[in-house]
Amino acid sequence: MSEPVSGKPTKGEPMIKVENLWYKYPRTKKYVLEDISFTVEKGEFVALMGANGAGKTTLCQCLNGVIPNSQGGKVKGRVVVGGLDTQETPISKLAQKVGMVLEDPETQLFTTKVKNEVAFGPENLAIDPDEIMKRIAWALKVVRLEGYEERPPTALSGGQKQRLAIAAALAMKPEIMVLDEPTSQLDPIGTLEVFSVIQDLKEEYGMTIVMATHKSEEIAQFADKVLMLHEGRLVKFAPPREVFQDLELMKLTWTHLPQISELILFLRNNGISLKDFAILKDEGVAMVKEALAGKAGRVAS
Ligand SMILES: Nc1ncnc2c1ncn2[C@@H]1O[C@H](COP(=O)(O)OP(=O)(O)O)[C@@H](O)[C@H]1O
Ligand SMILES: [Mg+2]
Repeated sequence: MSEPVSGKPTKGEPMIKVENLWYKYPRTKKYVLEDISFTVEKGEFVALMGANGAGKTTLCQCLNGVIPNSQGGKVKGRVVVGGLDTQETPISKLAQKVGMVLEDPETQLFTTKVKNEVAFGPENLAIDPDEIMKRIAWALKVVRLEGYEERPPTALSGGQKQRLAIAAALAMKPEIMVLDEPTSQLDPIGTLEVFSVIQDLKEEYGMTIVMATHKSEEIAQFADKVLMLHEGRLVKFAPPREVFQDLELMKLTWTHLPQISELILFLRNNGISLKDFAILKDEGVAMVKEALAGKAGRVAS
């Protein structure tokens, strides 16, 4: 690896620390983020949720330093990622700490070969060519695109393009990955592919993940916590189970529940007594089976 980026969090410090963050875009009056505070530990996967316009993209850009380094506007409070204060650190240095993947796979790929796409970031840092080759091989392996090195990115499927975008970010060896609705333009297979790669990054490489997404099912399955934004404010920061059980919050923020949770609520509302709530398919199915078995037993006796 090249020179380590200084400013690693000291032991016990969170990987992401946001303190009383307020943000207003240039030439606008209203703050679109208001007094946001939270921390994310190393290796955690946090899903950013909230209706359109809630501030998810803005918060993602605060985490990778685009705000305020390139975007300008007015910032109050502090964002510290991997020990680096985003208001005091140049974006080139932050890019080695925080990898970013955007919603539209088309707009973030701009070379003619898969391998060049992955090499682009490290080449800009003037990293040694041997090291770049190693990083290309590693990053394409992680996202399961080995063998695609010579292909043009335009020939890839949507899911493959997003995985390539992840590989390009990984080539900078970041400790944190921020993804802004990376699956919103993908079909269910592409969506699953991306989530499964993210799962590997977390489990095998201990990466810290923040992903803006509406995909409740996948959040229930993979995320450690949900950070819910509503009109620029943080209204809940808790494990998915706790968040999805808060039906008033779901309504307020226009959030879809996982389908199995909808089914459980529907059955409850229609007189089938279920002792619990479910966010995962397996637990929901088991719960319904148990309830139905109980009922059948009672009918038979
Ligand atoms: N470049 C910009 N200039 C001014 N206002 C913006 C800009 N980008 C987003 N906004 C406003 O900031 C708010 C939050 O937007 P955004 O972060 O994109 O929300 P989300 O990603 O949750 O849909 C919205 O009210 C949006 O209109
Ligand atoms: Mg957005």
